[in-house]
Amino acid sequence: SNNKKSTNERLLEICQLLELNINHYNWVGFYFKNGNKNELKLGPYVGAPTDHTIIPFGKGICGQVAVSNENFVVPDVSAQDNYIACSITVKAEIVIPIFVNGENIGQIDIDSNTPDPFTKDDEEFLEFVCKEVASIL
Ligand code: SME
Repeated sequence: SNNKKSTNERLLEICQLLELNINHYNWVGFYFKNGNKNELKLGPYVGAPTDHTIIPFGKGICGQVAVSNENFVVPDVSAQDNYIACSITVKAEIVIPIFVNGENIGQIDIDSNTPDPFTKDDEEFLEFVCKEVASIL
């Protein structure tokens, strides 16, 4: 909408703050529902560029969260059969959905190069971040 540029700048700043300040966050980005399509589109992110700018609902960890509406914590990505690899350095992943008016409109996706790094504290913190993000969308 008319506020898109400043919203994307704010989202990028959130990615930068998280990646810089939390050692086990190595790739931090947002995916959002792409219009009325059953797919996610990559938004602002920090970390290695990814080929996966569009992810169909149901595919990979991100696509599964788009349909489950639940947090998805992956301690070991090599143990997942429905997983989309973006970088060989990634060992673990966490995806937290973003709700606006009760609707799952996107997610924050974080990759870690550290095995099994994510705790309940990460989940609770990132749920808080996602609520703050929802309030600026
Ligand atoms: N690993 C994700 C794809 C996105 S990359 O992590 C940036 C997945 O399986 O959905």
